[in-house]
Amino acid sequence: MLKKLIVGNWKMNGVRSDIAHIKDISEQAAAHSNVDVAICVPATLIESASNISDSLAIGAQDCHAHTNGAHTGCVSAAMVAECGAQYVIVGHSERRSDQGENNTDVKAKAQAVMAQQMVAILCIGETENQRNSDNAVSVVIEQLNLSLPEVDNYDNLTLCVAYEPIWAIGTGRIPTLDEVAEMHMAIRQALVIKYGESGNNIHILYGGSMNGDNAADLLSIEHVDGGLVGGASLTAAKFTPVIAAASLT
Ligand code: PGA
Repeated sequence: MLKKLIVGNWKMNGVRSDIAHIKDISEQAAAHSNVDVAICVPATLIESASNISDSLAIGAQDCHAHTNGAHTGCVSAAMVAECGAQYVIVGHSERRSDQGENNTDVKAKAQAVMAQQMVAILCIGETENQRNSDNAVSVVIEQLNLSLPEVDNYDNLTLCVAYEPIWAIGTGRIPTLDEVAEMHMAIRQALVIKYGESGNNIHILYGGSMNGDNAADLLSIEHVDGGLVGGASLTAAKFTPVIAAASLT
């Protein structure tokens, strides 16, 4: 079984004064050393958060696919790595909808992240209509196959996949445990088809309204190797029960 990985996604939340929460979460991560914990903060906080967190990895929420150039307002993978990021979320559904990112963009970003020896957290997920039309698995696996990075060497794949049903994000609603199990199994199979045996070493995270009340059930499902947690990651009080649940599964 893979060591559980719990990643917080602060989205566009957090200013300097919120760094105290990073310190508190870092202490909780230290107390649950059988779980890997990371927080993906806004780009403005990556460096300061990295400087104060010992037991917690810090990540970014996006980066540009190119190394440098005329891309006003963007940051490259090397830039966030230099500030201390060890993870970068790519292809979050909010970026796919707000910034119009497509699978080709997401694949290029994942490759840029991995080229900097950081872990790319590649997000995929279906809309509510797609779930209700009973084709969620085929939609998500197609999205995954079109977004997965091309790499020369499968031995040390610094890649995670986050299955995040779009309709579950920030809504307090989650799929049934059977639906999560079916999706994660299909994702695992697709990863093994793509990367051979190395596909078994890639963490598959569940994201979308994960919290202290539902984490234990979700994290007990086969091939749910951790979580990508938005709202419930903003304070140690909310995030600690998720970390604790991961520590017991
Ligand atoms: P949520 O967000 O936990 O607030 O639903 C998860 C995410 O968007 O990564």
